[in-house]
Amino acid sequence: MIFVTGGAGFIGSNFILKWMNSSNEDILNIDNLSYAANLKNLDSISSDSRYKFVEANIQDQNTIEALLEEHKPRAILNFAAESHVDKSIEGPDAFINANILGTFSLLSASLNFYKTLEEEKRDKFRFIHISTDEVFGSLSMSDPSSDEESPYKPNSPYSASKAASDHLVRAWFHTYGLPTITSNCTNNYGPMQFTEKLIPLMITNAINGKNLPIYGDGKNIRDWLYVEDHCSAIIKILEKGRVGETYNIGGNSEKNNNEIVSGNMQDFRSYVSKKR
Ligand SMILES: NC(=O)c1ccc[n+]([C@@H]2O[C@H](COP(=O)([O-])OP(=O)(O)OC[C@H]3O[C@@H](n4cnc5c(N)ncnc54)[C@H](O)[C@@H]3O)[C@@H](O)[C@H]2O)c1
Repeated sequence: MIFVTGGAGFIGSNFILKWMNSSNEDILNIDNLSYAANLKNLDSISSDSRYKFVEANIQDQNTIEALLEEHKPRAILNFAAESHVDKSIEGPDAFINANILGTFSLLSASLNFYKTLEEEKRDKFRFIHISTDEVFGSLSMSDPSSDEESPYKPNSPYSASKAASDHLVRAWFHTYGLPTITSNCTNNYGPMQFTEKLIPLMITNAINGKNLPIYGDGKNIRDWLYVEDHCSAIIKILEKGRVGETYNIGGNSEKNNNEIVSGNMQDFRSYVSKKR
């Protein structure tokens, strides 16, 4: 079995659906069902005996340890996080709690569990931490893409909290030998994303005849990747990644927000005209 935390969110639920289609292994989803969660995303597999859901906070170390003891997973994939940059600016506390203290609790629980394993199981155990390229700061068009050697330059409370969690994960490998791997992925798009994020927000605003609010001058550049491709990369990292490493994941598709929104609006207009 594997554990996924934050599996009722955007990327976690895409990951679980992909896993259920491509693997015979059981999966346990641990999520505290924050405002960003939507269990309906997982309706199609909710009665499958290979899938289980537990409502819990990753900060609740006792509950996580009891689940680890009960199910003895071979891996934990940590998707659980507060993830919206604007919300982190309005109220950073939730981000410090979920992203930093939550990762700390999960690492502590995982290490306690890892220590109880026999050598053969220890060799196979993995703690995969899902992080973001936002820890490397912002890019201009002339900058090279970030890579695994890029310095951390987080600019928002969200990216700072993710950067802190990445450092904890690294330290738990180097200090305690917990077999961790971190992935830093660029912006994801695709089905089941909560409507606060750029692309679904613009589409729902357009449907409702509202304004399309683009942050600043819209020239902020990000790389974009389809969420299922991110999930495929995570599965590859789980199976073939080297412990103690970090892996950057990207789509070679750098665009500014104006391009993203106007491109989406062209697709949206052609969709509406075909419907008519
Ligand atoms: N969305 C992106 O473009 C993107 C890109 C790269 C990396 N990431 C990272 O991927 C992960 C998932 O992102 P997402 O877009 O799916 O986020 P999301 O906000 O859609 O989902 C996060 C999920 O985690 C759960 N959660 C939050 N705090 C929790 C806690 N303390 N205990 C248990 N569950 C908790 C929420 O209820 C939610 O279901 C995050 O760590 C994020 O930093 C996201």
